[in-house]
Amino acid sequence: MSVRHFTDLSAVSAGDLRIMLDDAVARKTRLKAGERSKPLDGKVLAMIFDKPSTRTRVSFDVGMRQLGGETIMLTGTEMQLGRSETIADTAKVLSRYVDAIMIRTTSHDRLLELTENATVPVINGLTDDTHPCQLMADIMTYEEHRGPVAGKTFAWTGDGNNVLHSLLEASARFRFSLNVAVPEGSEPFEKYVDWSKANGGKVRFSRSAEEAVDQADCVVTDSWVSMGQEHRARGHNVFLPYQVNAELMAKAKSDALFMHCLPAHRGEEVTDEVIDGPHSVVFDEAENRLHAQKAVLAWCLGA
Ligand code: CP
Ligand code: NVA
Repeated sequence: MSVRHFTDLSAVSAGDLRIMLDDAVARKTRLKAGERSKPLDGKVLAMIFDKPSTRTRVSFDVGMRQLGGETIMLTGTEMQLGRSETIADTAKVLSRYVDAIMIRTTSHDRLLELTENATVPVINGLTDDTHPCQLMADIMTYEEHRGPVAGKTFAWTGDGNNVLHSLLEASARFRFSLNVAVPEGSEPFEKYVDWSKANGGKVRFSRSAEEAVDQADCVVTDSWVSMGQEHRARGHNVFLPYQVNAELMAKAKSDALFMHCLPAHRGEEVTDEVIDGPHSVVFDEAENRLHAQKAVLAWCLGA
């Protein structure tokens, strides 16, 4: 069997993504019931972080331990990678030691180069372009609260960033509609929009957050400036019309969910009353990173 990488939702079939989500739900249920099976006993996951992280780092670490495995935490700057050893050579060396590699890095090309040269599974823990693990947790969270996501309408308002790119891929893979409102100059990369549309995604763009959110089942946003994208910062006034506040949230369906991958910048992309309010499921999303990623690890490692 070829190596199973988890680089992007577009790189994994809809069927396999559904298998992982079902497995994540089952693993969560079993964990809450006190079951402690160790299918990854003796396996080691190397985690490379070129950017900061709280959720991704802790949930992969705890998830791997719960499955009986271990992790090695590496930061790019402490490795020879930070002294110009190539990604390709690093991939070949790590593949001789560990059973899987998770990487959070800058350019998507670094992830792809690692994947092309590794002989063990590589998992994308966020790049400048995408954040597929986040979307697995988000779809799991939506379905936990509201049932099947297919046929529902999500609205994204704010910056057209890596989380939106994975949401675009998710909309095609999981068959929900996606309304996007971003200011001029903050549009998502066309290749993600094109891929989504070519694969059955129903994507609609608007400059108006009100229009995008109108009658949505789920409202999603993220920080206005992503890590390492500070040079793209547009200023608060540009983004303020895209802030998720109570007034905007009221345009969505009355039982709409509010999602944010966290960390949140309260008072910027979302107000306290929304993120701490009755529509918000942000901490369920954070928890489900653990369960969804355990399913991703199990899928990659055949456990
Ligand atoms: N949502 C998310 O990936 O959080 P961290 O940056 O804390 O890992
Ligand atoms: N878009 C954000 C997500 C953080 C989890 C970033 O890349 O900084």
